[in-house]
Amino acid sequence: MAGALAFSLLYLTLTLSLVSSHNITQILDLNPDYSLYNKYLTDTKLNDEIDSRTTITLLVLNNGAMSALASKNPLSVIKNVLSLLVLLDYYDPSKLHDISKGTTLTTTLYQTTGNAPGNLGFVNITDLKGGKVGFGSAAPGSKLDSSYTKSVKQIPYNISVIEITGPIIAPGILTPTTNANITALLEKAGCKTFVSLIVSSGVLKVYESAAEKGLTLFAPSDEAFKKTDVPDLTKLSNAETVTLLTYHALAGYTPKGTLKTTKGPISTLATNGAGKYELTVKASGDSVALDTGVDSSRVSGTVIDSTPLVIFTVDDLLLPPELFGKSPSPAPSMEPVEAPGPSPVSELAPTPEIASAPGPALSFPPAPPTSSPEGTPAEAPATDAADVKSPGSAAVDVRVPVKTLVAVVVIGLMIIRW
Ligand SMILES: *[C@@H]1O[C@H](CO)[C@@H](O)[C@H](O)[C@H]1NC(C)=O
Ligand SMILES: *[C@@H]1O[C@H](CO)[C@@H](O)[C@H](O)[C@H]1NC(C)=O
Ligand SMILES: *[C@@H]1O[C@H](CO)[C@@H](O)[C@H](O)[C@H]1NC(C)=O
Ligand SMILES: *[C@@H]1O[C@H](CO)[C@@H](O)[C@H](O)[C@H]1NC(C)=O
Repeated sequence: MAGALAFSLLYLTLTLSLVSSHNITQILDLNPDYSLYNKYLTDTKLNDEIDSRTTITLLVLNNGAMSALASKNPLSVIKNVLSLLVLLDYYDPSKLHDISKGTTLTTTLYQTTGNAPGNLGFVNITDLKGGKVGFGSAAPGSKLDSSYTKSVKQIPYNISVIEITGPIIAPGILTPTTNANITALLEKAGCKTFVSLIVSSGVLKVYESAAEKGLTLFAPSDEAFKKTDVPDLTKLSNAETVTLLTYHALAGYTPKGTLKTTKGPISTLATNGAGKYELTVKASGDSVALDTGVDSSRVSGTVIDSTPLVIFTVDDLLLPPELFGKSPSPAPSMEPVEAPGPSPVSELAPTPEIASAPGPALSFPPAPPTSSPEGTPAEAPATDAADVKSPGSAAVDVRVPVKTLVAVVVIGLMIIRW
């Protein structure tokens, strides 16, 4: 009984430690002096970024200092100020008091967001006389705004939590970004083709109204549209274009650190039912890729990260399987796209041979009866071609020919083995 409990606890501990080496929310929960700071880490999603990193130092503010900061500033400004308090190096109290030459500049999370111009994302740490340690912006001529008060928690050399007297104010950090102009930002970031599509389709309006509550946008670069395997988008209907573009956005604010910790498929603005038009995040170290089921695209840069709006650039178009099946290139350019009406293929029942066939054959879609073992494999492709010319909806026709062909080959092989 006790053994089983101990085993469960051990198992739980192991499972948790595989997920992350620390949980900043839990660390700060132990001390009510930092409850407000802790709340803002969660509200800005900085907790995800902190939990996904090691070798960091968090400079925390007590409730008094934090409420002074929070009462005067919007959440996007608070996030920038707090990201300047996340040092991307490990400083425990003894290292702070033993800085070579008495002063150093250290990089912070703010520097990685793309929001900090020049070196404004660096912090100056200076060992002052009498054992005092001062913190200030690295911008030339800055004062040391804040100083060390006490140690809160150390997990060497993963995370060190240290209390300081007040925020570090880099020049301009308290100026809020006013109504970000999405198209101007995207054009500047090299996403002109994407801009022309969202403007002409009207999807820009969808983004803008979503952005008030929270929006995460994945904008393909101009190069992404020039790749050879990109489907011919001019063949898409208006509704399909809108779906494709809304598939490139998520409702809500999901900065990179949060993307990295995301498990399982996530809904997009195109999601219209469970399991539809979803994306899966693949994270490895600091790099993040999005998998659609048809293709995978690297998240290459951050255009803006200003709560509640975040815009990333991606290297490839995100092609939803619902529109492009498993074979993106031929999809929209195939003849039957223009042909209206329901697909006869989808109404066909599986042949008994396929239904009873063991192994991989079961995973193929129902094959037309004509391609059952009565027909020879040589005749089968002709049957397929007839299917392609028959009227049908784009989504079904686009996928069936390839899969049917594969099914036919498999059946053919089965016949040969008989
Ligand atoms: C520090 O982080 C590493 C990597 O996440 C982890 O394996 C290790 O157990 C952590 N160390 C401590 C003391 O928690
Ligand atoms: C960290 O701890 C908080 C509070 O206990 C919990 O809600 C959260 O899910 C934890 N985060 C992770 C990544 O486990
Ligand atoms: C840090 O700031 C102090 C005081 O402004 C300055 O004297 C020192 O040179 C700065 N350190 C670095 C490394 O820039
Ligand atoms: C946003 O920027 C575009 C240029 O990309 C400009 O045409 C438009 O007028 C700007 N909108 C606002 C509201 O400033």
